[in-house]
Amino acid sequence: MKNTTHIVFPQGFLWGGATAANQFEGGYNEEGKGLSTADVITAGTHTTSRRITPVLEEGVNYPSHEAIDFFHRYQEDIRLFAEMGFKVFRMSIAWSRIFPNGDDAEPNEQGLQFYDRVFAELKKYNIEPLVTISHYEAPFHLTQKYNGWSDRRVVDFYVRYCEVLFNRYKDVVKYWLTFNEINILTLSFGAFMAGAMMPEGNGELAHATVKDEQVLYQALHHQFIASAKAVKLGHEINKDFKIGCMIAYMCSYPLTCHPDDVLLAQQKDNMSNFLCSDVQVRGAYPGFAKRYFRDHNIQINMQEEDENILKEGRVDFYTFSYYSSTCVSADPNQEKVGGNLSMGLKNPHLKASAWDWQIDPQGLRWSLNNIYNRYEIPLMVVENGLGAVDTVEEDGSINDDYRIDYLKQHIEQMKEAIADGVELIGYTPWGCIDLVSAGTGEMKKRYGFIYVDKDNEGNGTLARSRKKSFHWYKNVIETNGEQLD
Ligand code: BG6
Repeated sequence: MKNTTHIVFPQGFLWGGATAANQFEGGYNEEGKGLSTADVITAGTHTTSRRITPVLEEGVNYPSHEAIDFFHRYQEDIRLFAEMGFKVFRMSIAWSRIFPNGDDAEPNEQGLQFYDRVFAELKKYNIEPLVTISHYEAPFHLTQKYNGWSDRRVVDFYVRYCEVLFNRYKDVVKYWLTFNEINILTLSFGAFMAGAMMPEGNGELAHATVKDEQVLYQALHHQFIASAKAVKLGHEINKDFKIGCMIAYMCSYPLTCHPDDVLLAQQKDNMSNFLCSDVQVRGAYPGFAKRYFRDHNIQINMQEEDENILKEGRVDFYTFSYYSSTCVSADPNQEKVGGNLSMGLKNPHLKASAWDWQIDPQGLRWSLNNIYNRYEIPLMVVENGLGAVDTVEEDGSINDDYRIDYLKQHIEQMKEAIADGVELIGYTPWGCIDLVSAGTGEMKKRYGFIYVDKDNEGNGTLARSRKKSFHWYKNVIETNGEQLD
């Protein structure tokens, strides 16, 4: 259905950009920071897998160690975000900067001071921070001593960490997200990246899985409990806090109209997307999850108070990442394509990025409607964007029209969703400044409006420069999404 009315973004719409500490902060061992799970993953490329090395190896490139050095350059970076007119900036806090081991008795004051400085700098420009409390990293000590989220004791360590953050930043941060892409924990290398559990295999990240679903869903349950406790505690500390969930929304179409395909697509939507948000938004496990657990012999070890904890810790808003869509089919012989930490089937109607992620702006409208119809709470798109190779011309310019085109089409579809009645409150495209890829560890896969001079091997001056999309996005924000050309 083509739009026929003039659609506008609501006043006060939160335009901005998104990052994660382990992919852009660097300073991995500075000012008392402990080693995180992200710090033990080596660099990789499009085709070379990354490795998890429990002991750091000499002469090996670990991309999180320096990343793009926001740790030392935050003033310059925030100035550039302000120049684009950001209203909101999504960032995460490195847990191991605050609690170096995760189970320490006292927080690391120097780590807290770093974020004091960052929040003060954002305030200078009236940029609202949106803080992810745990974005694909945890203190590595929690992996080694407790096998990460498989152990319920980690819930208490996390809640203690939240308590410290909430008390310290209660006057400067209003928007919080408890876990990044919580639904990734049960998928492939999510067990390590999201669940901090030591995977099976030879250390290659691409094959780093925990096969036992019992362990995976138990760990996920612990994160649900931790998230719910954090939400309740946050509201007690400051009743104005808005605390959200964050889901990697995997938009999956049935490949054909065969009822088997249609049903499979619905089941995937349920188990991959809605299981987590049903628990976090509605406060209870949905029936389809209970059936899945029954059918697969999974028994979630629930304590007596858990049902109540989940009910009392429902989130205020729903946020998600959206990059692409895939198809599902009951026929196992269909062609596969890549995607955001997951795989799906090729859609013959769509083109794909250089990393094989299918580009589907309308899928964003579909997803926004699908999610909003279910929960009817405010939504925010906190990740979206095109990972692409950029070329720096002789005069220093970077003409990333392909990125502008991708974002423009997605913003148009957000407008359509708003006209459909969806309450969309903000948009923070991913990697607003070039940063390390979570999936491949590359610098070459760039999303930013701001170019960072650094290559896959770690060479470069780290100098920042404005891409063509920088000026384009500035105008989009200035006109509140009116002018997209
Ligand atoms: C999301 C993550 O899955 O996708 C980010 O929350 C990640 O951390 C982003 O960087 C893009 O994925 P990639 O693999 O291109 O970095």
